[in-house]
Amino acid sequence: MKPVRKVVIPVAGHGTRVLPATKSTPKELLPLVDRPLIDYVVNEAFEAGIEHVVLVTGRGKGAIDDYFDHAFELEAGLEAKNKTDILDSVRRVIPKAGAMSYTRQQAPLGLGHAIWCARDIIGDEPFAISLPDVVIDAGPGCLKQMVGEYEKSGGNIIAVEEVPREATNKYGVVAPKDAVNGPLFEMSGMVEKPAPEDAPSNLAITGRYILQPEIFGLLETTPRGAGGEIQLTDAMDALMKQQSFFAYVYDGVSHDCGDKLGWLKANIALGLKRPEFADALKSFIREQV
Ligand code: G1P
Repeated sequence: MKPVRKVVIPVAGHGTRVLPATKSTPKELLPLVDRPLIDYVVNEAFEAGIEHVVLVTGRGKGAIDDYFDHAFELEAGLEAKNKTDILDSVRRVIPKAGAMSYTRQQAPLGLGHAIWCARDIIGDEPFAISLPDVVIDAGPGCLKQMVGEYEKSGGNIIAVEEVPREATNKYGVVAPKDAVNGPLFEMSGMVEKPAPEDAPSNLAITGRYILQPEIFGLLETTPRGAGGEIQLTDAMDALMKQQSFFAYVYDGVSHDCGDKLGWLKANIALGLKRPEFADALKSFIREQV
């Protein structure tokens, strides 16, 4: 079985749900406590043993490339002032030279199209996908849990979680093949953004995937689906008919940071977990309510 060495992170989206915050700043660089969203997702991938990150980027997203590169003036200034802790935090995020590639999605045709844009960089091997606005608080990280499952099962695996029935139209939703009685289960299908009354379950796709490269051929011919976009979910539904495919109920808590309230909640939840902020933040919240 080939190992999962690369992750594709699509970062071309406009962040419409968090405008105007994302008018001139990529959504992926919105701060979560003291690090941008993309930093959490890239770290989670490296923790899972991923060696190479492929960013599918787009117009106006250049600041993301800069975030993962040296900033000589800044580093020299911090060094001269002996601010070693800050210097370390700035350097820590820079991946090994050559461990990050960029490709551009030239038109906003949907998540499926964004992933397809990475096909040449991925080549003929299994790969992971992480959606950067979904930050998952878990230990071990969600992708590491999935790689552990993949090493036993092979095939394709997507992370799922339960959502309220009335929220199914915000997600891809899976149809379990049999009664679900463990974290890993097979599916009979999946559908993107179904209305609550049409949803096959309340198990939603969470934004972490391990897929076989045959997905690219299917994406090539996937017609536009929900929202008029080329949907990854539709191509995965087709791949499921050809290869083994599992849903995995991961152990952890997800935060939808591509949504204003989700982002605010994530800042509070992760802020409260930081020993240096927890007490002060708790008393501040108590004073507000
Ligand atoms: C995407 C996927 C969807 C998934 C969701 C998770 O939708 O298409 O299947 O459930 O991410 O956040 P988006 O949020 O990009 O509309």
